[in-house]
Amino acid sequence: MSKIILTGDRPTGRLHLGHYVGSLKRRVELQNSGEFEKIFIMIADAQALTDNADNPEKVRQNIIEVALDYLSVGIDPVKSNIFIQSQIPQLTELTFYYMNLVTVSRLQRNPTVKSEIQMRNFEASIPVGFFCYPISQAADITAFKATTVPVGEDQEPMIEQCREIVRKFNSVYGEALVEPEILLPDNKACLRLPGTDGKAKMSKSLGNCIYLSDTPEEVKKKVMSMYTDPNHIQVSDPGQVEGNTVFTYLDAFSSDEDFAEFLPDYKNLDELKDHYRRGGLGDVKVKKFLLNVINKELEPIRARRHEYEKDIPEVYNILKRGTEAAYAVAQDTLNNVKAAMKIDYFNDAELIKVQSEKYSRTE
Ligand code: TRP
Repeated sequence: MSKIILTGDRPTGRLHLGHYVGSLKRRVELQNSGEFEKIFIMIADAQALTDNADNPEKVRQNIIEVALDYLSVGIDPVKSNIFIQSQIPQLTELTFYYMNLVTVSRLQRNPTVKSEIQMRNFEASIPVGFFCYPISQAADITAFKATTVPVGEDQEPMIEQCREIVRKFNSVYGEALVEPEILLPDNKACLRLPGTDGKAKMSKSLGNCIYLSDTPEEVKKKVMSMYTDPNHIQVSDPGQVEGNTVFTYLDAFSSDEDFAEFLPDYKNLDELKDHYRRGGLGDVKVKKFLLNVINKELEPIRARRHEYEKDIPEVYNILKRGTEAAYAVAQDTLNNVKAAMKIDYFNDAELIKVQSEKYSRTE
């Protein structure tokens, strides 16, 4: 069976380092591996509207930001289809049919939905559209017959719910849908990159993000004020590496080559950690190293972004072409689904024949 990728992000803000190590970097590697027959990368504006219904302008403005972030990390529009979710009505139609295969209590038990309801104070009144977004996400994935969904760890319950819907659909209506696999980062530090303040997650609302589009000056300010070990006061004090955000970021980003290039007194991260634990290594030195490592990663991304920023109409053209290609594939799947569900009346010559025979007999 051919391998197909579908993945995406909500356009509610610019993408940050958490998105990068959690998923974007991997997508580019997968794209360039040549192992995938088709790659679909979706800007999930319809999903973003499920909890931003009163703020369509925010979603509209961020479509171009996310598109620029994709292109700047190295998503190549020749190899990958970047498209806009709301422009594919087939996804809405699939969602409507999948709704019959999911119970309210199953949605209530979805851990991502649960925590998002809390975060958004939706407890007393949950918008129905928001509540159902895991079903719509299953439509996104299955419409493209995706085998592989590279996403961050927080999306795991969504993919599990999608797999259940696929199994249910196939058992009721016959094998029309493909059950996808999730692809998580293999580096533990990349699974959930903490914010610069040491909080569990990088998130726009907490103001603890380093954005892919940040200038070198912005990155410097953020790295130099990052959370470390609060008990490491004097340089000579022994320091703690666990839960120390600067070291978590080094776990996620640094390589032995970075040490050779920027901090040749140490061979690798283990040596640096040992010194920090013993005492005698100051935070500023470690932060400066991290700054070099991050800027090295971000420089080519910034350069590509500047190129694309010079021709915004072309970026919209890329989205338009990607959307047209996605539309055709989703329509094809919708046709299969409707045939499996026996709601393809006008295409079914056999049905019309059988019905006519039935009535000719009763004359
Ligand atoms: N839920 C994802 C996010 O919050 C976006 C998304 C929508 C998605 N549909 C998807 C991701 C399908 C992977 C597959 O970023």
